[in-house]
Amino acid sequence: MPQTTRPNRKTNGRGVQTEDTRICVVMVGLPARGKSLIASKVVRYLGWLSIPAKTFNVGQYRRTNTPTPTADFFDTSNAEGERLRRAAAEAAVNDMIQWFDDGQGLIAILDATNSTKARRRWIQNRCDEAGIATLFVESKCDDEELVMSNIKEVKLTSPDYKGQDPELAAQDFRNRITHYEKVYETMDEDETDLTYCKLIDVGHQVIINRLRDYLQSRVVYYLMNLHIKPRAIWLSRHGESNFNLEGKIGGDADISERGELYARKLPELVRESAGDTQLTVWTSTLKRTMQTARFLPFEKLSWKALDELDSGVCDGLTYADIEAQYPADFRARDEDKYNYRYLGGESYRDVVIRLEPIIMELERSENIIIVTHQAVLRCIYAYFMGSSQEKSPWMEVPLHTLIKLTPRAYGTVEERFSANIPAVSTWRGKGSSAKHQDTPSQSSTDLVDGAPAAIPDIPGKEPVGLGLDGTGEGSKTA
Ligand code: ATP
Ligand code: F6P
Repeated sequence: MPQTTRPNRKTNGRGVQTEDTRICVVMVGLPARGKSLIASKVVRYLGWLSIPAKTFNVGQYRRTNTPTPTADFFDTSNAEGERLRRAAAEAAVNDMIQWFDDGQGLIAILDATNSTKARRRWIQNRCDEAGIATLFVESKCDDEELVMSNIKEVKLTSPDYKGQDPELAAQDFRNRITHYEKVYETMDEDETDLTYCKLIDVGHQVIINRLRDYLQSRVVYYLMNLHIKPRAIWLSRHGESNFNLEGKIGGDADISERGELYARKLPELVRESAGDTQLTVWTSTLKRTMQTARFLPFEKLSWKALDELDSGVCDGLTYADIEAQYPADFRARDEDKYNYRYLGGESYRDVVIRLEPIIMELERSENIIIVTHQAVLRCIYAYFMGSSQEKSPWMEVPLHTLIKLTPRAYGTVEERFSANIPAVSTWRGKGSSAKHQDTPSQSSTDLVDGAPAAIPDIPGKEPVGLGLDGTGEGSKTA
């Protein structure tokens, strides 16, 4: 038997514990069952944790030879269609193996229907030969209404149907599914030698078979927490604090008079963006977040994991003090802010690791408002928006501004609501000395698909997108 897992557990050199294992996550399921969406979320989650991952979407390979097929192309009695679809799957698997051999990543996602036992056995054999472990992830859902709404939500914008009448396109996609249904075999007792996770009816039931290692179980645990109910996440920094006024970092200061005004205005700001939706409030354990959240008429929970990045020996200093007392550290942080760890404190990378349970809980939950701190908010924002590690620590998050993130099928919509209460700016640009100034007052701002409407020059602003590979192209049914 080829070796698929190696015994010694180690980290990936960046603080995230992984095993020295290469894993191919093989998606399984009929079209419009959320496979591409699941794949893009997994890639984004792993990327956020510094675990290099990539999706190989068989539909994109197929589109190079058949860009706009009709449903007949997917009829299994169409010999030419079968040949082209098989060629697309082979090309994707070959590229994936090459990607592993080039040492580019730890987890590949093979995104296709992989709907027959024969196809899955073929993939298993190819992976065995290449020393790659597999994890089959099946999404099984027979709710016709949900499938039709999925088709309308994402499939009509697929490049397969570019420029076509939406009604005809939806019917054609339904016919495509019918062809797949004729040959589809769910994962069952014939395949108990394979490692798989079967998500039935969007995770209402989950069947897990033969998990073999740590990374596989980590991915499966993430999948078990996902849901697709409509919801939003609200993020706010605490109101301006007395430390903010003095330009000092860290500490556990009270909020200032203007911070208090923000705390009193926050319920109104939330109502403006959430209507009557019942939220749950999460704060850190530091006074300034709890003081800011205290007028919100919702259940409250405080988390140690939401405390501000620990600035170690620099706690209580201003940026100018740090530049004077620890000049080499000050420069080193600017050079690589994500990885720089304060003496006796934390780096952004450390914060991401301690935030993982928060992200998991956020995925399980519905409507949450988080009142937290600048660095922590940047890390949570980076998860939802797929921001790069290079840019996210520099992102501007003004005080006295509520951010609403609404996850959609292939992107997160961002809106910003300013309380119009002046506050100092705690943002310091790369290479600059610290100057604390009042934030210019802003009106409510919408950012949809990453286009800042009224806040100029936001450093670190990323194009909105759910996954690093979440193209939103929809169909990858080869
Ligand atoms: P295809 O095989 O045609 O590429 P797909 O299975 O990859 O289809 P997606 O493009 O990912 O389907 O479909 C996205 C839609 O599926 C979204 O509307 C999303 O809300 C919904 N969805 C997400 N997860 C699930 C699930 N587990 N079961 C059913 N639908 C889901
Ligand atoms: O200045 C406010 C603050 O929350 C500090 O407590 C914290 O050290 C800092 O922001 C984090 O931001 P940066 O990583 O840009 O220094």
